[in-house]
Amino acid sequence: MVKVGILGAGGMGNVHARQYRKMSDVELSFFDPLPEKSEAFAKQWSATPLDSVEQVIAKCDVIDVCLPTDMHQDAGLRAIASGRAVFIEKPFARTFEECRQLIGAAEDAKVPLMPGHVARFFADFATGHRLVKSGAVGTPAAARTRRGGLAPMGSHGWFRDYERSGGVLVDLAVHDFDWLRWTLGEVKHLYSRSVGIQTGSGPDYALTTLTFESGAVGHVEATWMDPGGFRTTFEIAGSKGLIQHDSRQNVALRTTLEGGKTFADGAISATDDPYFKQLRGFLDAVKNKTDVPVSAHDGAMAVSIAMAAVESAKTGKVVVPERV
Ligand SMILES: NC(=O)c1ccc[n+]([C@@H]2O[C@H](COP(=O)([O-])OP(=O)(O)OC[C@H]3O[C@@H](n4cnc5c(N)ncnc54)[C@H](O)[C@@H]3O)[C@@H](O)[C@H]2O)c1
Repeated sequence: MVKVGILGAGGMGNVHARQYRKMSDVELSFFDPLPEKSEAFAKQWSATPLDSVEQVIAKCDVIDVCLPTDMHQDAGLRAIASGRAVFIEKPFARTFEECRQLIGAAEDAKVPLMPGHVARFFADFATGHRLVKSGAVGTPAAARTRRGGLAPMGSHGWFRDYERSGGVLVDLAVHDFDWLRWTLGEVKHLYSRSVGIQTGSGPDYALTTLTFESGAVGHVEATWMDPGGFRTTFEIAGSKGLIQHDSRQNVALRTTLEGGKTFADGAISATDDPYFKQLRGFLDAVKNKTDVPVSAHDGAMAVSIAMAAVESAKTGKVVVPERV
């Protein structure tokens, strides 16, 4: 059995627990300081509640950090210092420097460390990446992505405090910065505009223009100002054709609850769930002592691009992302 310990029983802690419950080789423990969340989580997932971060790290082989973003680095460093394999939700950490410290600590301790870039495990994004890499549309020239819905709150409203979440560029666009860098290569420089960056809280919308070292250009739109529900789109134009994706067009199942709340789902099996694939890939790499599916270096570079976008949105200047 693998002893997995989740830190944070909020939105993502629950998404992860649902996946671990599909795995017969996982024994689940967790810690969340809010008693009502802790009780509900323990009951729903048959997971063992512990009393502190330290207890989770002491008991478990694998630590899964589902905490607010500004708490990722501290929890990650503590788990690494105890020799644990560590998974950290995206964004890998709140700043690029924090990412660097996590990487250095994991290299010194020789422990597996993986950031949660789940977009890579969504079928549309995985297939889009594979098609581009296989030359299906020739040489990529231009890419456009859009991601968003309404601004989440999170526990005690932490998402809406940009000191904690980084706003829409660090929290949301980071998915697309990672996917585009994975698919098109390194970013040479970028320019970004955001409506939320001046207030530092609340709803936000940002548009970032990227120039890749290959010469390709991209634009990444991220919004917390769309009441129409969460949606992702992308488009990659190459010398031989165009690939397009729109999550609203590909819906197989739509569930509407009393009160009007609507969920849209693809028809996927339990093990096709991108969150399952991501976590199973991580655990298998830990068990087999192979490379984790998404490297810590990639997680850090996605944050580097996001932080460059924040700087550009603040200064109005073109910014070159830092390298690990
Ligand atoms: N990959 C994705 O699709 C995705 C989606 C949403 C959020 N996220 C990321 O996941 C992370 C968590 O976001 P969330 O939506 O679950 O937030 P959340 O606010 O719903 O959950 C965070 C939980 O951490 C708990 N917590 C606070 N301090 C703690 C401590 N010291 N020890 C243990 N628990 C503590 C809170 O009580 C809360 O239950 C963020 O970094 C966010 O950006 C990723």
